[in-house]
Amino acid sequence: MGASFANCRNGILIVSPDLLMIQSATVLIVDDEKHTRDGLRLSLEDDFDCYVASNAAEAMEYLRNDPVDVMLTDLRLGEDDGMKLLEQALAMPRPPVCIMMTAYGSVDTAVEAMRRGAYHFVTKPLNLDEVELLIKRALRSRNLEQENQALKQQVERKFSIEGILGQAESLKPILETIQQVAPTRATVLIEGESGTGKELVAKAIHNLSGRPKAKLISVHCAALSPQILESELFGHEKGAFTGAQDRRIGRFELADGGTLFLDEIGEIDANTQVKLLRALGEQTIERVGGAKPIKVDVRVVAATNKDLAKMVEEGKFREDLYWRLRVVTIQMPPLRTRKGDIPILAEHFLKDLSSANGKNYKPLGEDALPLLMSYDWPGNVRELRAVMEHGVVMCNGSRIMARHLPDYLSRPGGIGWRATSTSPPLAVSKAAPELPEKAPLDIHEMEKQLIMEALERAGNNRSEAAELLNMSRRSLQRKLKQMGMVRKHRKRVKPAP
Ligand SMILES: Nc1ncnc2c1ncn2[C@@H]1O[C@H](COP(=O)(O)OP(=O)(O)OP(=O)(O)O)[C@@H](O)[C@H]1O
Ligand SMILES: [Mg+2]
Repeated sequence: MGASFANCRNGILIVSPDLLMIQSATVLIVDDEKHTRDGLRLSLEDDFDCYVASNAAEAMEYLRNDPVDVMLTDLRLGEDDGMKLLEQALAMPRPPVCIMMTAYGSVDTAVEAMRRGAYHFVTKPLNLDEVELLIKRALRSRNLEQENQALKQQVERKFSIEGILGQAESLKPILETIQQVAPTRATVLIEGESGTGKELVAKAIHNLSGRPKAKLISVHCAALSPQILESELFGHEKGAFTGAQDRRIGRFELADGGTLFLDEIGEIDANTQVKLLRALGEQTIERVGGAKPIKVDVRVVAATNKDLAKMVEEGKFREDLYWRLRVVTIQMPPLRTRKGDIPILAEHFLKDLSSANGKNYKPLGEDALPLLMSYDWPGNVRELRAVMEHGVVMCNGSRIMARHLPDYLSRPGGIGWRATSTSPPLAVSKAAPELPEKAPLDIHEMEKQLIMEALERAGNNRSEAAELLNMSRRSLQRKLKQMGMVRKHRKRVKPAP
């Protein structure tokens, strides 16, 4: 190892689980003059693994077989064009950092090479110290770039897990909590209005739990009468009640080793609440009509769109059970408080539902998004999904326009679909002719429109607009800059005397 440590200053550290290996960075020297190749190799080989090629074909063959970290190439390679080699090398799946060598007096060409993606250039006759320094600088910047890339990917992964889409600030702590709590045994209570994604979160917790016999068993508590719910959850012995002709295994036992998702937990009756409390506390259950306690290893995730705390106050829900359930709570935000996520969600649903309905994906037309943004979404994300399906089904043109969406969206103050109904009404087919439509809106254009609208509503106050968009003022500032919408401060010109 001693010898390789000498190279480690400029090396790349590769850590594999069973071996710590330090590898030198690799440099490919491309020049048609032998003495330049040899001189460079001699001066650089103490610090780098050097390889040489005398023309473009040789260099490309080398790169195809074994990607290098840095390529140092002459701009004029006899018959070959160094610029072409540069372009080919940069088009490789793992492109090297390219440094161009150029004769004194042809700096213009070298600058053109940088415009095309070269890292830098050195002029001939070469100053070998300068070349070495430049290679080290290039490697440092490449490592930084790779780290940034890795970090970015990590952040993206973190902020969109298990199909939960959205960039709202209010969603970030939720995604963090999911990741934090998933591998533990803690009971989780997910609260939120209908359609906000409670079940999606429960699935994410289960999928990330790594529980060995990973099974997710769901029980929709509101759909079952008290007696049926009790036997659904805990099972029953033969003859436990009239009609119990056989022994039945309950959901708790089925979920053994996995996760039990209790949806609409606010709906369970007093008797089942007691049994549930015991199951949670002692990790044992008893089948209805059975006397034998049965040990179960179940992680419980519960969801409700009721205000459980209020139900406790009103004596409708056991306080001890409430505290057992809410070891960790997740509060899902209503869609109206994170309207900034509508474009991403809408696009996702359009893609998903187009393929499900055997149709080609069509983007939103320009009048559709403002309509989606002006609506309050009492049915939250589920309602948005259904509205997008309506659009997919009703649209025969190339873009989904406002007229393809349910009429109730545009009725002033009139909400056509209440959160209690199962799905929004599909409008009766409107045989409106397909009018010529303007260019499709891509996601950036949608974003721009949203920002403009928010600024307009906020009377150009950026802090207020950022709040409306559910983003930080700094993020808004950055977006405005990217869109070229930041006013430049002009220097005042003094009037001529
Ligand atoms: N952040 C999100 N990203 C992608 N899809 C989402 C998101 N939130 C919700 N959905 C989708 O919206 C629909 C409704 O979500 P889900 O069933 O999880 O809501 P819920 O809160 O359980 O509703 P309810 O209280 O009515 O049972 C599902 O199709 C779900 O996939
Ligand atoms: Mg649900």
